[in-house]
Amino acid sequence: MKQKNLLLLGFLLAYCFSSVFVINAEDPYLFFTWTVTYGTRSPLGVPQQVILINGQFPGPPIEGVTNNNIVVNVINKLDEPFLITWNGIKQRRMSWQDGVLGTNCPIQPKSNWTYHFQLKDQIGTYTYFASTSMHRASGAFGGLNVNQRSVIFVPYPKPDADFTLLVGDWYKMGHKELRRRLDSGRDLPPPDGLLINGASKGLVFTGQHGKIYRFRISNVGISTSINFRIQGHMMTLVEVEGSHTLQEVYESLDIHVGQSVTVLVTLKAPVKDYFIVASTRFTKPVLTTTGILSYQGSKIRPSHPLPIGPTYHIHWSMKQARTIRLNLTANAARPNPQGSFHYGTIPINRTFVLANGRASINGKLRYTVNRVSYVNPTTPLKLADWFNIPGVFNFKTILNIPTPGPSILGTSVFDVALHEYVEFVFQNNETSIQSWHLDGTSAYVVGYGSGTWNMANRRGYNLVDAVSRHTFQVYPKSWTSILVSLDNKGMWNLRSQIWSRRYLGQELYVRVWNDERSLYTEAEPPVNALFCGKAKRPRLI
Ligand SMILES: *[C@@H]1O[C@H](CO)[C@@H](O)[C@H](O)[C@H]1NC(C)=O
Ligand SMILES: *[C@@H]1O[C@H](CO)[C@@H](O)[C@H](O)[C@H]1NC(C)=O
Ligand SMILES: *[C@@H]1O[C@H](CO)[C@@H](O)[C@H](O)[C@H]1NC(C)=O
Ligand SMILES: *[C@@H]1O[C@H](CO)[C@@H](O)[C@H](O)[C@H]1NC(C)=O
Repeated sequence: MKQKNLLLLGFLLAYCFSSVFVINAEDPYLFFTWTVTYGTRSPLGVPQQVILINGQFPGPPIEGVTNNNIVVNVINKLDEPFLITWNGIKQRRMSWQDGVLGTNCPIQPKSNWTYHFQLKDQIGTYTYFASTSMHRASGAFGGLNVNQRSVIFVPYPKPDADFTLLVGDWYKMGHKELRRRLDSGRDLPPPDGLLINGASKGLVFTGQHGKIYRFRISNVGISTSINFRIQGHMMTLVEVEGSHTLQEVYESLDIHVGQSVTVLVTLKAPVKDYFIVASTRFTKPVLTTTGILSYQGSKIRPSHPLPIGPTYHIHWSMKQARTIRLNLTANAARPNPQGSFHYGTIPINRTFVLANGRASINGKLRYTVNRVSYVNPTTPLKLADWFNIPGVFNFKTILNIPTPGPSILGTSVFDVALHEYVEFVFQNNETSIQSWHLDGTSAYVVGYGSGTWNMANRRGYNLVDAVSRHTFQVYPKSWTSILVSLDNKGMWNLRSQIWSRRYLGQELYVRVWNDERSLYTEAEPPVNALFCGKAKRPRLI
């Protein structure tokens, strides 16, 4: 009965949307109702308030298939406005569903809002998390795995089972306390620990000797890069944020905040238990957490010492990052080879050099991009843009390159034409590692280098087989370059994944636009769109 109702609802929705949204009605629907509440858990051994989704910490996983339509009704039972963003889900034509304050009005307490999005042409390991305030530091994150359609070949052996590992730093302070601290102008202290799937130790993953397991590993933390390794086992990297990689074998892998990787692990060691280890990178002291890979039938507990990993070693990490390359002949979610888009031969239309900074504005700590510290207007940029509401943002707030001068508060938006081919250079003059994320598309990470970027650095770019991904690390006193074809019309968030930095202004939006009003390039606002600030519900939607 329930099945039938869902099916009927699916048809109805598909029918309604087909006229407005041009969604492919043949692609299956997955429906979720998520109730977001506070709860108590003791991830580091002491009880603390966390954010739960349907009583779960971390939140429930989404297991989808390429092109599935996802409908998630989020019921906000917190005491604060709330949104979830789908990290790396491209929301083709639909920045309306991106779930950040520049595209959506927040879901007010005691109310709900239903997201409708499609896992269009995507494959791989992703995550979702709360985008509002510092909520992500208290939970409300989870795995979002997109499997291949049955007609699509993936370039690696079929794993016998999957393990999803959400690894991240953790604070004993809740999100409100962290926020109060940031609001008062102070930075966050180092995190108190590292968690794997919400636990600080002892989580067991059981497998059988001789079988192959697919580990989907994401860094869901708020500030700290991690190194991941499994005692006595090698990991074959097969996918990074939707790109199938050359299948290199690693003893350990660095995963920066907001990034995801997929590795295969064959259980061919003697039958016993082994430590799974995650440790922090570029921090003093180094935090370490362990889980257990247990062979079925094992009677032997894992033995110390833990396998060692790199701790500070910036050069090691940069070198490893350069070994992560695209398999040009393999396909991804679509059947054509990944190498058929010759990204290295396309002329660059525009270059943006984005320098991260730390500043004191009105006596308080703020973080900046090209001297501008972002503030969220009460009217989402996307609504202001669509309904031509003046006075919300302008394109003159931020410059394309760093310039000397004082730091200011502002609402930064870059104006880019649809299909422009853009180079972003992230320039990090600070001594901490950065992690940047672009919504709505993925980008080829063509170069990492130390010092200050200049045009001559382009000669060292990987213009052949760089991976295309959604989150890019920038090493201390270094730069990272990406190339991206901005083919997805919309208002897209470009943000630091280091959450205190983003909360204090290190983000901006890229408006990808042309004046043609066509449902094939951008969907109309959803029928259930929320309105806030200066945006009033028009009569006819
Ligand atoms: C809120 O949830 C109800 C079902 O409980 C649903 O009918 C309604 O469409 C949801 N509201 C929005 C704005 O999505
Ligand atoms: C690249 O992908 C092809 C499938 O097109 C696969 O046969 C090959 O093993 C892959 N090569 C590497 C080095 O991963
Ligand atoms: C980008 O540059 C190419 C080559 O110069 C040009 O043909 C194209 O029109 C430009 N695209 C946009 C959107 O400006
Ligand atoms: C970064 O540091 C270099 C060397 O000190 C300096 O030349 C450059 O202007 C700095 N860039 C920014 C954006 O601060």
